[in-house]
Amino acid sequence: MSGHTLPCCKIGPSILCADLSCLADECRKMIHSGADYLHLDVMDGHFVPNLTFGHPVVKCLRPKMPDIYFDMHMMVQNPEKWVESMADAGANQYTFHVEACEDIPALCRKIQESGMRVGVGLKPGTPVETILPYSDLFDVVLIMTVEPGFGGQSFMEDMMSKVQYLRTNFPYLDIEVDGGVGPNNIDVVAEAGANMIVSGTAITGASDPSQVIALLRNSVENAIQKSQLER
Ligand code: DX5
Ligand code: ZN
Repeated sequence: MSGHTLPCCKIGPSILCADLSCLADECRKMIHSGADYLHLDVMDGHFVPNLTFGHPVVKCLRPKMPDIYFDMHMMVQNPEKWVESMADAGANQYTFHVEACEDIPALCRKIQESGMRVGVGLKPGTPVETILPYSDLFDVVLIMTVEPGFGGQSFMEDMMSKVQYLRTNFPYLDIEVDGGVGPNNIDVVAEAGANMIVSGTAITGASDPSQVIALLRNSVENAIQKSQLER
């Protein structure tokens, strides 16, 4: 379902390690610092050994920032269960994990019919080939560069071969990376071809988040420009 316009750079901070008692303020801070969207991590204590929040929180957040794109990273078992509730809460993108899903095409259709963009997530151990048969059905592929469950882990550079493969074969696809991404590794991420950049602690833990967001954007935009010149 990816279109025929070349993907552009989007920076989506993960607020997982921010002060969740002030969620709306933390989200606003990210937007004012130059974020393009918010990456909201939902964990159920089953698919990953950790808990965060669900659709009731998203529903409260939505009226406080009506125009912001919410990417729901659903680290949950039975992801088909929460599609309607997340759509009703105001989510824009529903990114589920293929490892947690029994019927990938049915779930992709359900998400699309509910008006959200379809994201498919791959844990580090899951080969990219798993999703190739369904490439007409999703909008975004999320390549995890850590084991999902916790913020602040180390970036796995060997995942870049998945990003490279996808970019080569799907030039118009939105490719998102998540886990340990920050100024130290953004150049390899950008060179590999990712255009949607999730970054948690590198942004929320920085004294000046806007500087980090600008740095990440600069690297990705340069790589996109370079690849367009080479086409
Ligand atoms: C991990 C989450 C990530 C993570 C990002 O399971 O999906 O979104 O919190 O945070 P950093 O960038 O700190 O790894
Ligand atoms: Zn995430």
